[in-house]
Amino acid sequence: MTTRIASFLDKGGTGKTTSIAHLGVALTQQGHDVLLIDLAGKQGDLAKAFDVWSDVQDAIEADEAWPNISTVFDDAWPTIAEKLGDDAVHDLVYETDEDVDLIPAHPGLDTLDSELGNIDDAGERYARLEAFLDDYVEGLPYDIVLIDLPGMSNNVTYNGLWAARRVLAPVEMGPFEAEQAGALREDLEKIRSSFGIDVELVMVLPNKVDDRTNLATEYLEAFHEEYSDTIAPEYVPYSQDIRNATQQGMTAFELKNPSTTAQRAREAFLADAEALIERVED
Ligand SMILES: Nc1ncnc2c1ncn2[C@@H]1O[C@H](COP(=O)(O)OP(=O)(O)OP(=O)(O)O)[C@@H](O)[C@H]1O
Ligand SMILES: [Mg+2]
Repeated sequence: MTTRIASFLDKGGTGKTTSIAHLGVALTQQGHDVLLIDLAGKQGDLAKAFDVWSDVQDAIEADEAWPNISTVFDDAWPTIAEKLGDDAVHDLVYETDEDVDLIPAHPGLDTLDSELGNIDDAGERYARLEAFLDDYVEGLPYDIVLIDLPGMSNNVTYNGLWAARRVLAPVEMGPFEAEQAGALREDLEKIRSSFGIDVELVMVLPNKVDDRTNLATEYLEAFHEEYSDTIAPEYVPYSQDIRNATQQGMTAFELKNPSTTAQRAREAFLADAEALIERVED
């Protein structure tokens, strides 16, 4: 079965999208076939990170962005998929220059949360993405599916967690993040007791770490103590180059003249990608 991992923390801007993009590319460099899925909102951050957002928007404007990621949550998806045949999933997927494939976000994600909220049965409401992955993506040549989630808990998020059963939580070094990470553990426990499904926190990934400051180093130590079993082997340093690369529609792996911090970030993502696979295989 395909390995599925979702990035999640109930907080914006900690590096969920950046981590999914960089770990995805790291995993392809290690020989895996990777599909990324963007559920994180209509702004299309993951597609922007791989410079395919303008293609997505062209398709939207030309009325050709159907089916899209929000369609697979539809009651009618099985019927639609049957009609489209082999093209059904193919139509959703964009290839990128960095070897990962991507199912980008779509404006339809905007209303999806409330639409899902109208489904009475919780099993039905939260299991739509899982059904799509089981029935339509399992047959494709991907061995890893990474799902990027919004920085808040809603019905779309729960679909991602439900389908992936495994969570990667990027955290910044601050008091609020420590709290959010604690809340995440409680959330996952709640899911377990309410729905009987196990969603495991597989990796807490310290990101944007400025290790020249004492405060960051102190938080790093605290995270290591609190999450000794799940902390990533390497933290990702703060690097202006990551921001620059993202803005140019590429990951730091594609930079021609990477700064020292960008090189360290690349090495961290490579080591963490390897650790992620080891943990999942255990
Ligand atoms: N290690 C890093 N060094 C410097 N900048 C970073 C780093 N990681 C992420 N960033 C920048 O921080 C911003 C937020 O990152 P990102 O979009 O990945 O967070 P997110 O958790 O996905 O946010 P959201 O909750 O809004 O989806 C982006 O501008 C990104 O380029
Ligand atoms: Mg994001």
